[in-house]
Amino acid sequence: MERAYYVTTPIYYISGQPHIGHAYTTIVADVLARTARTFRPTFFLTGTDEHGQKVANAAAAAGKTPQEWTDELVPRWKALFALYHVSYDDFIRTTERRHVEKVQRVFDRLRASGDVYLGTYEGWYCVNDETFWLESKLVEGRCPTCGREVQWLSEDDWFFRLSAYRDRLLEHFERHPQWVQPRSVYNEMTAILAEGLDDLSISRSNLDWGVPIPGGGVIYVWLDALLNYITAIGWGEDDAEFHARWPAHTQLVGKEIARFHTIIWPAILWALGEAAPELVFAHGWITVAGQKMSKSLGNTVDPFLLAERFGADSMRYFLLREAPFGSDFSYSEEKIAQRHNSDLANDLGNLLQRTLSMLQRYRAGVVPAGRGPGELAVRFGALPVAVRERILDLRFREALESVWELVTELNRTVDERKPWVLHKQNLGDDLDAVLYDLCEGLRWLAILLHPMMPERMTEMWRQLGNPGRIDEDWSVSLAEWGGLAPNTRTAPSASLFPKIEPTIP
Ligand code: MSP
Repeated sequence: MERAYYVTTPIYYISGQPHIGHAYTTIVADVLARTARTFRPTFFLTGTDEHGQKVANAAAAAGKTPQEWTDELVPRWKALFALYHVSYDDFIRTTERRHVEKVQRVFDRLRASGDVYLGTYEGWYCVNDETFWLESKLVEGRCPTCGREVQWLSEDDWFFRLSAYRDRLLEHFERHPQWVQPRSVYNEMTAILAEGLDDLSISRSNLDWGVPIPGGGVIYVWLDALLNYITAIGWGEDDAEFHARWPAHTQLVGKEIARFHTIIWPAILWALGEAAPELVFAHGWITVAGQKMSKSLGNTVDPFLLAERFGADSMRYFLLREAPFGSDFSYSEEKIAQRHNSDLANDLGNLLQRTLSMLQRYRAGVVPAGRGPGELAVRFGALPVAVRERILDLRFREALESVWELVTELNRTVDERKPWVLHKQNLGDDLDAVLYDLCEGLRWLAILLHPMMPERMTEMWRQLGNPGRIDEDWSVSLAEWGGLAPNTRTAPSASLFPKIEPTIP
């Protein structure tokens, strides 16, 4: 059996309301999953990271138990993903039994193999990032990642023998230079490895919100959390099912947590006798005034309001189109409105509307027969393969740019072939050919853009009168120019992307 294309997002700390940064990674993973599903078995996992000091503190501040708190918040996160049309196959919560039991099993296994031993931890801890820091790594006495105050910990802890995996990690990085992307993050990680690795404390003795360890204390939230990627897919339960998905094909993370996923995570997997993921991609941040958008900085933007104002699919388009994937980019409502109005309303929405209204006027809304493959077929025949490759390579912006060449070409066809003139001159065959090509081109666009804008493209598909599934195997639906059946009856209705008034700053 072909191994599934397994794609994951980080599991999100449920210490508060989701913001658009959380939606971002999940949307990207969704585009990958939807694309992969058109040609191979796929599995897409997301979820929530519910243990640890940070969540316990948030619950306490709200006067709730951590369990009450997370139970109340999870529906909010699920609602967010539903609103943004995220098609995850599974949503894991680290408080679920299926997870907790297996985390304990991992702990026992690692203890038995000698990868985990008892020692004393003395050092600093950042609650916000749930990270242990050596004194030498602090920046002016604060957390080097988030800049917040750290607290001194001195406790008897369990340790994971991370240092023993350094050579293997170095070798893995050398042998698989593409396994961590982008290159800047790969370089940063190899620099960390070159400096040397300390063993990692993997328990917290003064905390009770976590996976309990026999004899006292709880498992360090990061070990608990990383394991979600394998506990959700049957590790330790059904080996065949597990290996039908693992190793993951693509693990998406924000760059601030690359170290956990590319140094600690593979070492744990190796200690368990499993392979490292094929690719960890550490993407950039959505920033506000040059700073990472984050709850603790108080500069977050509510994704629920954004979807209401711009439409969930327009937001998806913006996030994918605005910057090369991997780079930081700044959030601005003007830019979202601009992209929506120019690319979506003008270029794409108008094209659909003009085409369907000409078809209505000249051919009673019914698609005529075309002339068979012509110039457009030659020029765009290879587009589906190119788009798929770019998406799976995480070059979303380029994928959209190449699809837009077809959008531009179809708009040019309308302007140059002037169907209204062909109609006036009684050139019926020419008019048929142009109208057919426009409808066929739009059918292609709906399919190609569906992973990025699933709801709006399904509506476009419906207005074009196409039967069947929009997300069918591309090698069937886009096999050749001319897949659209003549006599298809179109169903024009409301504009796909109504224009939005930009806000005056
Ligand atoms: N719980 C850990 C991850 C455990 S994974 C085993 C965590 N959670 S988090 O809630 O802080 O979410 C982190 C992820 O949310 C980031 O890695 C990134 O994918 C996404 N983002 C959070 N803020 C973001 C931006 N401002 N911009 C882009 N992505 C952002 O870390």
